Amino acid sequence: MLSAFAVLGLLDIIWGLNAVTSSFQTLLDNITSGFIFLFSILGLFGLIRKNSFLVYLSLLSPITILVSTIQLLFTHVKTFSYTFSSASETLILALSVICIYTSYKTISHSQIPQNTVTDYEQKAESEYTVELIDVVKIYKVGPIEVPALNGVNLKVKKGEFVAIMGPSGSGKSTLLNLIGALDRPTSGKVIIDGVDISTLSDDELAKLRNKKIGFVFQAYNLINRSTVLRNVELPALIGGTAKKERVKKAIHLLKTLGLGDTIYRKPKTLSGGQQQRVAIARAVINDPDIILADEPTGNLDSKSGREVMMYLRKMNEELGTTVIVVTHDREIAEMTDRIIHIKDGKIIGEEVLRRNKI
Ligand SMILES: Nc1ncnc2c1ncn2[C@@H]1O[C@H](COP(=O)(O)OP(=O)(O)O)[C@@H](O)[C@H]1O
Ligand SMILES: [Mg+2]
Repeated sequence: MLSAFAVLGLLDIIWGLNAVTSSFQTLLDNITSGFIFLFSILGLFGLIRKNSFLVYLSLLSPITILVSTIQLLFTHVKTFSYTFSSASETLILALSVICIYTSYKTISHSQIPQNTVTDYEQKAESEYTVELIDVVKIYKVGPIEVPALNGVNLKVKKGEFVAIMGPSGSGKSTLLNLIGALDRPTSGKVIIDGVDISTLSDDELAKLRNKKIGFVFQAYNLINRSTVLRNVELPALIGGTAKKERVKKAIHLLKTLGLGDTIYRKPKTLSGGQQQRVAIARAVINDPDIILADEPTGNLDSKSGREVMMYLRKMNEELGTTVIVVTHDREIAEMTDRIIHIKDGKIIGEEVLRRNKI
């Protein structure tokens, strides 16, 4: 496209040159005619002597020759520029055709229309919020390759409440990070809400995480300098929700999670169970489709742990959010609809606890 503009610019210059040449030629013609006319008049009325007239006339002839030579030169320049203009015009036409064709191909074969249609169609067909197909994850630590997932296939339906259970190092966190688009698989497909996340750019992944996924971590990960309310508000602020609306929503969620009287306190002044409930409020403020919780009860006593699970269940039932909880605690896992067992990076079995949800 740029080269086409360059040629267009060149063409403009040539046309300009043509115009200047033409004007200059006319000017020279007029000067010559003017001189001849002036001397003829002067001679005719006897204002100059015959001899002088001849002298002037003899002076005029080299000027005329010079003018003719310049004119000839300009005619050549003009002819050349005409030829060049025609050639450039043809070239521009060809370039324009190529540019239009390339633009058309870029639009039709890349982003907007095709992807939108594909995503929409996939979305319409997909009954699963999460779908993993032959997912392999190998971490590279210097020259050493650490296999974490060895071909995982998993489907989680919309609105399900699922536990992933397995011993330490079996790949549970890796699996959750891949579902949460925090990391990409070495091979295989991770499909979230019908969209293969490998097709998304880093920006699109960040948007997907902010809008569709809420994270809850074992260590709560709250900002201790900010109030409870501010912590819960934050993802909505990042997502662009207006202040009034996000404050109202945060307060409502905190009340639902039994934290109505902690709104202006700092997280560190709350119990572990309360802090984890703040983290749940923060995870659901943007109405995500999925809550991913990695050992959310790991730091809690069993009573607080069960309470946190009850609130996750509440979010699951009241908001229809799909919840995936990683745990190695059997009692916690039994509070979900289905337990998926993982070992050495492979799913080795599952237990369905509440069939009506699956
Ligand atoms: N960032 C990493 N770099 C290298 N190896 C890792 C990394 N994260 C996890 N691993 C390895 O991958 C395997 C699975 O880890 P992880 O998913 O954390 O298991 P779990 O959560 O079940 O304890 C382990 O062998 C672990 O050492
Ligand atoms: Mg882990």
